[in-house]
Amino acid sequence: MSDKVHVVWQHYDVTSSDRAAIKGQKPCVIWLTGLSGSGKSTVGGHLDSYLHSQGYHSYILDGDNVRHGLNKDLTFSEEDRIENIRRVGEASKLMADAGLILITAFISPFRADRAMVRELFEPGQFIEVFVNAPLEVCEQRDVKGLYKKARAGEIKDFTGISSPYEAPDAAEIQVNTGDQTVEESVETIIEYLNANGYLKKP
Ligand code: ADX
Repeated sequence: MSDKVHVVWQHYDVTSSDRAAIKGQKPCVIWLTGLSGSGKSTVGGHLDSYLHSQGYHSYILDGDNVRHGLNKDLTFSEEDRIENIRRVGEASKLMADAGLILITAFISPFRADRAMVRELFEPGQFIEVFVNAPLEVCEQRDVKGLYKKARAGEIKDFTGISSPYEAPDAAEIQVNTGDQTVEESVETIIEYLNANGYLKKP
């Protein structure tokens, strides 16, 4: 018999709604998905700054950073990417439960994994944002020089080159970072948040 059967869910008096109410916001996760170099971290960072400047309690989880700590044991194999997203999904759920507006910036290349994370949340709490820039544009920018290395065969399983990216077919929001400015992309997300009541003080 596994040890797990002896673990009972612990209930606490302060509810998720209490935590949200004291912050005056509707907690959610804004899940940015897209190719490396598509602008997830840039758009996410600007959105985070805007929310913070308006007095909202936001936080950002970013693939490059999380892979230095919590997920430093994971590679870019399919199996490890699934585990990466599973852990980030669970961490996101905890942060939304704590009342935060969470922004995540992970390639999260597999549709099934994003769907699995969505399932962890109440309807409306998970907002998928497709940060859409053509591979050619991301490769042209090559901010970190990783596409060049991937083309040279120095990095294996590189998304878009030697590992697949499955674009969302029903994301709540799409931003076209290939031909929009960062400000326009951020504005699109803020408009969605406003239109759907996320930024109204309850
Ligand atoms: S994910 O696919 O598991 O969601 P994640 O968002 O955590 O990826 O990390 C992506 C970042 O890791 C990229 O922005 C890039 O800087 C770096 N990276 C290093 N190796 C790879 C690779 N093989 N494929 C994609 N990104 C890589």
